[in-house]
Amino acid sequence: MAEVGKDINKAKHLLERGDLVAIPTETVYGLAGNALDIQAVTSIFKAKDRPEFDPLIVHVSSLEKVKRYCVGIPPKANELAEAFWPGPLTILLERKDVIPDLVTAGLPTVGIRCPNHPLTSQLLKTLDFPLAAPSANPFGYVSPTTPQHVQDQLGEKIPYILDGGRCEIGVESTIVGFPDDAGTIYRLGGLDIEEIEKVIGKVNFQLNISSNPRAPGQLQSHYAPGKKLYLGNIDELLAKFRKEDVGILSFQKDFHMKHQYILSRNGSLEEAAQHLFSSLRMLDNEPVSVILAELVPDVGLGKAINDRLRRAAGAR
Ligand code: TXA
Ligand code: MG
Repeated sequence: MAEVGKDINKAKHLLERGDLVAIPTETVYGLAGNALDIQAVTSIFKAKDRPEFDPLIVHVSSLEKVKRYCVGIPPKANELAEAFWPGPLTILLERKDVIPDLVTAGLPTVGIRCPNHPLTSQLLKTLDFPLAAPSANPFGYVSPTTPQHVQDQLGEKIPYILDGGRCEIGVESTIVGFPDDAGTIYRLGGLDIEEIEKVIGKVNFQLNISSNPRAPGQLQSHYAPGKKLYLGNIDELLAKFRKEDVGILSFQKDFHMKHQYILSRNGSLEEAAQHLFSSLRMLDNEPVSVILAELVPDVGLGKAINDRLRRAAGAR
């Protein structure tokens, strides 16, 4: 079992000697290691059982630090960082050679993010290297939003979980890159597209190219629970299964079932995002054989929630 605590110094010392530490962010927990140390980065891939073609996001304490690791930062990327960092936005930037190939899976760009969590911000400030940190879950599974989620799946593989409580946003960062001047969204996430477009104007989208994923977060089946998840009208789906076999994940409605989670009774998308991954985990652990779920309104954060639900339902 990993030790769980709020000791930033302990986290710092472990990271400095090349060990991994789970860190809290406002989106989900990350599995962090020194991004400049190939050994540490290798152990991240191993602990997650993650294929090496899937690049990692590098976390920094401020925009200033980015110049050490990246070149030719486009003006719009700068504007987004100024507007939304620290926050749930990852920006793909042209990397310098100090960033190992392994981190970016050989890509010329590196995903950079400045997370917004007091413990992790403080930790990043005390370190003289950035932290590579994918979500702290086994590859393909639902991301963790509490220290216990990390403990349940990776507790045997890491020495320390920095306890920052439950993640405030609950879905991963939005990923934007600049293959051209306009900017392209590669993953829907905690930062609303409308907010981004207010700052840099209309963006393009490249969300689902499962044949040649630039980001495996774009794979059709990802962020998935172990059980088969059916997405649709829950009343109609219920007619097709034995009641004892199903777990329900609804947005607002109470289906009065034994195994059900309601994302937000009052219809708040923020609350729904916060509860999404923990509800999927709980349903996965209950004695049901399938999960029936419905989409939420497709606006704002709802877009990221629906994206995760569709991927959770993706055929495996
Ligand atoms: O909110 C988040 O972003 C969390 C927290 C811990 O920061 N991290 C996270 O990391 O979700 P991960 O590794 O689970 O997802 C990162 C996604 C992957 O789908 C990866 O393929 C994509 O970002 N990615 C990273 N670097 C990339 C690059 N250079 N080009 C394209 N996609 C990239
Ligand atoms: Mg992930």
